Amino acid sequence: MNHQLVLVLDFGGQYNQLIARRVRECNVYCEVKSYQTPIDEIKKLSPAGIIFTGGPNSVYLEESPHIDPEIFRLGIPVLGICYGCQLMAYSLGGSVSSANTTSEYGKTVTYFDRSCRLFDGLPDQGITWMSHTDYIDNPPEGFTLAAHTDSCPSAAICNPDKRLYGLQFHPEVLHTENGLSMLRNFLYLVCGCTGDWDMGNYAQTAIQEIREKVGDGKILLALSGGVDSSVLAALLSKAVGKQLTCIFVDHGFMRKNEGDEVEAAFADWDVNFIRVNAADRFLSKLVGVEEPETKRKIIGEEFIRVFEAEAKKIGQVDYFAQGTIYPDVIESGAGDAAVIKSHHNVGGLPDYVDFKEIIEPLRLLFKDETRKLGMELGLPDYLVWRQPFPGPGLAIRIIGEITREKLAILQDADFIFREEIAKAGLDRDIHQYFAVLTSMKSVGVMGDGRTYDYTLALRGVTTTDFMTADFARIPYDLLAKISSRIVNEVKNINRIVYDITTKPPATIEWE
Ligand code: XMP
Repeated sequence: MNHQLVLVLDFGGQYNQLIARRVRECNVYCEVKSYQTPIDEIKKLSPAGIIFTGGPNSVYLEESPHIDPEIFRLGIPVLGICYGCQLMAYSLGGSVSSANTTSEYGKTVTYFDRSCRLFDGLPDQGITWMSHTDYIDNPPEGFTLAAHTDSCPSAAICNPDKRLYGLQFHPEVLHTENGLSMLRNFLYLVCGCTGDWDMGNYAQTAIQEIREKVGDGKILLALSGGVDSSVLAALLSKAVGKQLTCIFVDHGFMRKNEGDEVEAAFADWDVNFIRVNAADRFLSKLVGVEEPETKRKIIGEEFIRVFEAEAKKIGQVDYFAQGTIYPDVIESGAGDAAVIKSHHNVGGLPDYVDFKEIIEPLRLLFKDETRKLGMELGLPDYLVWRQPFPGPGLAIRIIGEITREKLAILQDADFIFREEIAKAGLDRDIHQYFAVLTSMKSVGVMGDGRTYDYTLALRGVTTTDFMTADFARIPYDLLAKISSRIVNEVKNINRIVYDITTKPPATIEWE
C-alpha cells in the first residue's frame, strides 16, 4: 500500500474513531492506535502526521496517560486535541491547571489568529465545541497562543517551526464550525498530505486482510438484507468467493414482503445462500416477554443457535462474520461509553458455539462510510440506500409482548408509511422511518360505532451518524394522507401519532 498514513493516538477520548473518520473524509488514510504504542513502532510506520485524542484525565496527575516526549522530536507534525493539547503543552514544559471557575462545556464563541496555519482561510471567529475543566495557563517555550475564548486564553497553541499544534476544543464534532477545515488544514498545509486515499483503497486493503486472515477457511455470514450485512456480503464474496455461506435467518420480524425481497436480491450472486424460515421458533421463545433488552437477548441467542445448526449441516465453518459498524460498537459499551442498548450483533459468541472466531470487517466504519464502500464494491443502489433496520426487526417495534396479530398489523401499517414516503420522494432525505405499534389502546369512533383499538406511532429521523438524530419534518399533508390510509386500510388501528423527539434524549427505536 502506497499511501500516506496519519496516526491517531488514543488517550481514551469519546471521539477517537470520529477523528479517524474525519481524517478519512479528507481522503487521508488513518489508523487509531493506543497512546502506549512504542516510539520505535511509530517511527517504522513513518506517519505524515500524528493526532492525539482527548481523554477524561488531568495531565498533571501521575496516573494519567503520558507520552514519551521523544515523539515531539521525530520531526513529525503533531496535533493535540483537548487532553492531547494539554498533554503536549505539559510534556514540553508548559503548565496546565484546573480552571474550576471557568470550565467550558458546549458551544463556545472562539476567536482565532488566522496567521496560524490551522485557521488559514477561515473566519476569525466562530463556534467551537468545548469540554474541559483544565486549561493551559502557560504554554511551553516556542509556542504562541493562536485562539482564545472569553474565559480561556489558550483555545489553541502552535509552534509552527516544530509543526506542533494543539486545540483545546474538538474540531472533529459537527458543532465546531469549520472543524473539518481545521483538520484539513492540519493534514494538507502542515503534514503535506496529498489526499491519496479513498474508499476504493479501503476495499482493497480490507479484501487483502480478509484473505490473509481467513486463508482457505469457511465463513458464515448473517445476512439480513440490510445495508451493513449486504456490504459485508459483497466484501467477503470479493475476498473469498464460495468459501462464504450467507445465511439469511428469517426470524419472522422482517417488514412486509422483505424476506422474499432479500432472497431475490441475492439469487444471482456468486455465494452460497441459505434462507432459514425460523419465525415459529423465534415467536415461541418470545411468548410473554415484554422487556426490550430481554427480547434482544433471546433473539440474539436464537440467532446464534440457528447459525450453529446451519453450520453443522454445511460441515466445518471457521469464521462467523457480522456486519457490526462503529455506532453499534460504542453504543454496546465497548471502551468507556455507557451501555444504552445491547445491539445483539455485538459482543462475542457464547461458549457453546464452536466457530473459531468472529470477524467484523466493518467495525470501524460509520453508516455513510459503509454505504460508500458498498458503492465502491458495485452493489445496486436499492441495497446501498436501504434504510437501516435493526437486527431484532419488528420485535423491538412492538412495545411489550409480541403476537402474530400485532406483527401483521404493524407490517401492514409500516408498509403504507414507507410506500407514501417513497412516493413523495423523501426516502433518501429521511434517514430512517418506520411505524411502531405502541400496544396502547384508546377509544375511537368509526361509522356509528365505538372502537377500542391500537395507537400506532410513526417515527422519521434525519441523522448523519445515528448517534444523534432530529425528527424529520414530514409535511402535514403527507402525514394526513398516511394517517388516513392506515386507519382505513389496516384493521385494529384507530389512532396515529408522530414522534417529535430528538436523540438524545429519546433513541431512534422505541425499545
Ligand atoms: P437507537 O434506537 O439506539 O438506534 O437510537 C440507533 C440505530 O441502531 C439501530 N438499532 C439496532 N440495530 N440491533 C441492531 O442491529 C439492535 O438491537 C438495534 N437497536 C437499534 C436503529 O435501528 C438505528 O438505526
